[in-house]
Amino acid sequence: MTAKIHSLGGYIHEYQKSIANPEAFWAEVAEDFYWHKRCDKVLEWDFEGPSIKWFSGGKLNITENIFERNLYTIGNQPALIWEPNNPDEQSRTLTYSELYLEVNRFANSLKNLGVLKGDRVAIYMPMIPELTIAMLACARIGAIHSVVFAGFSAASLADRIIDAEAKIVLTADGGFRGEKITPLKNIVDEALQSCPGVETVIVYERTKSNIKMVEGRDIWWHKAIEGQSDECVAEEMDAEDNLFILYTSGSTGKPKGIVHTTAGYMVYSAYTFHNVFQYNAGDIYFCTADIGWITGHSYIVYGPLLNGAQTLMFEGIPTWPDAGRFWDIVDKYKVNQFYTAPTAIRSLLAMGMEHITNKDLSSLKVLGTVGEPINEEAWHWYHDHIGRNRCPIVDTWWQTETGGVMISPLPGIIPTKPSFATLPLPGIQPVIVNEVGKELTGNSVKGNLCMKFPWPGMARTIWGDHDRFRQTYFSTFRNMYFTGDGAQRDEDGYYRILGRVDDVINVSGHRLGTAEIENAINAHPLVNESAVVGYPHSIKGQGIYAFVVCGELSTGGEEGIRKSIKMAVTSMIGPFARPDLIQLVPGLPKTRSGKIMRRILRKVAEGDATNLGDITTLLDEDVVVKIIDGALVEV
Ligand code: WT7
Repeated sequence: MTAKIHSLGGYIHEYQKSIANPEAFWAEVAEDFYWHKRCDKVLEWDFEGPSIKWFSGGKLNITENIFERNLYTIGNQPALIWEPNNPDEQSRTLTYSELYLEVNRFANSLKNLGVLKGDRVAIYMPMIPELTIAMLACARIGAIHSVVFAGFSAASLADRIIDAEAKIVLTADGGFRGEKITPLKNIVDEALQSCPGVETVIVYERTKSNIKMVEGRDIWWHKAIEGQSDECVAEEMDAEDNLFILYTSGSTGKPKGIVHTTAGYMVYSAYTFHNVFQYNAGDIYFCTADIGWITGHSYIVYGPLLNGAQTLMFEGIPTWPDAGRFWDIVDKYKVNQFYTAPTAIRSLLAMGMEHITNKDLSSLKVLGTVGEPINEEAWHWYHDHIGRNRCPIVDTWWQTETGGVMISPLPGIIPTKPSFATLPLPGIQPVIVNEVGKELTGNSVKGNLCMKFPWPGMARTIWGDHDRFRQTYFSTFRNMYFTGDGAQRDEDGYYRILGRVDDVINVSGHRLGTAEIENAINAHPLVNESAVVGYPHSIKGQGIYAFVVCGELSTGGEEGIRKSIKMAVTSMIGPFARPDLIQLVPGLPKTRSGKIMRRILRKVAEGDATNLGDITTLLDEDVVVKIIDGALVEV
């Protein structure tokens, strides 16, 4: 286990230490890990390049830090507890020793199929233990995993496989989600029609769906592991060798392959897990995220397992068989730390109290939220009805790019305030800057949230496009990492995240680029152009509002075209990116130079068209009048 902070005084002391001498601070945290060779240099950095290296010269394997480092003491304790979609199906528990053997066995299977250190392995799997086994097996042999959330469409999966040049894809026949089955293997088959580089597909049998196995390419998981040894020597990795790629959306259309490296990510995910959740030996920790997103990577898999924790993985959805499912799980396993997204809280809040009142939630000690700002109503409901006024809420702010939590209360240590992420963790140096990059010092300020110093868990590059990495994060404000979020620092020095300041929207905790959705809409044969903006949505946080210009209408009329646009987005990205509202408009508001004035569209979508601000650069005011006239509101 990494060092743990126990008191407010302890936090202040550690924080000050971490700022006064970051290298000494992180070197000390890194002491707790198992290294083949210690590093020569703790940190080398330059935000211009940018080039960031932590623990240079260090040699290690992250899976040895999960297993070999801990097996003597906790080998027989549960590592992974798995709750299936269907509550009547048998749950599964893998102890550290059992998980270790499975990881080794699958690592040998991958090797046997020709996977080498540095190769990219695409993983498109449901929330089953084999997904965790697959990731750790990659890490064991130094292959780079690229997990693609199993809700993405074939086209999105193909884009990610092609961008990462993955040679192998790991999947399952299907995935259970509530009453539905996602046909994962069929989606992979469709994706692979445009991925000639993929030579092998390993298929785990989960749903017993009727699928087609392609001769010479596809192999069943149980066949792949047959006869493989459960001993696999861990590949010795360089501290800065790539551990994984995870795609996320940005303000342009193409998703970005965020790259995390071995040692820094390990140290940071482990340190933050231990402190943010105040995990104690024997606790049961449950994070409801999907492993297809960074939350699952850092706080279902790596962070907990590096701490020898018991991590619970849930295959299903919060509303099946009924809206009490999370609380049934908390009750069944006596969960101590529970981590979810505001959107889940809001949707369960709307379902009423009857799903909660008869559940034993007394085991809970810490509640967490992540992914989007939490509104006060949801915060209080979570605090009063789930935590029953006993459990501190950690509102954790971070990003795919940061690798781990950056700003968050430490439960029971830093006093909370609804809708505030509160204070930076040790080692984190946030700053708020104005439009021209001037740092706003002191309290009671508002602006763009940046980081002025590196931390071990930060992304190192965008796969295959280092210049885009520089441009996106390090060029807006000189010598700073720009988060893309707006934030306020209040009179107590507490941080509150105000949401994205770029063209990224956050729908039910899913991060989506408006350009990405526009690309999908524009691919529709009847669409000339479109503009997508977010608007406040009571459950999802933000909803998707699309303004669409069509050349002509097909036989289905307006309704028909709305339907087919939704279908187009589902098939190009996934169902979670489907617009909530589609307004057909005669044109888009543009400046004389042809730039879409999104500010106006945002106002219309928010239902606040009375104050459009400065519209002197607008080319055609008539278009705006028509847009306002036809504006849609959610029913
Ligand atoms: C964006 C990152 C990091 C895990 C899940 C999302 C928003 C994240 C909070 C929070 C307000 C938050 C930000 C951020 N966000 N956590 N506690 N309060 N906003 O990861 O998909 O990379 O999205 O999510 O806007 O930039 P992601």
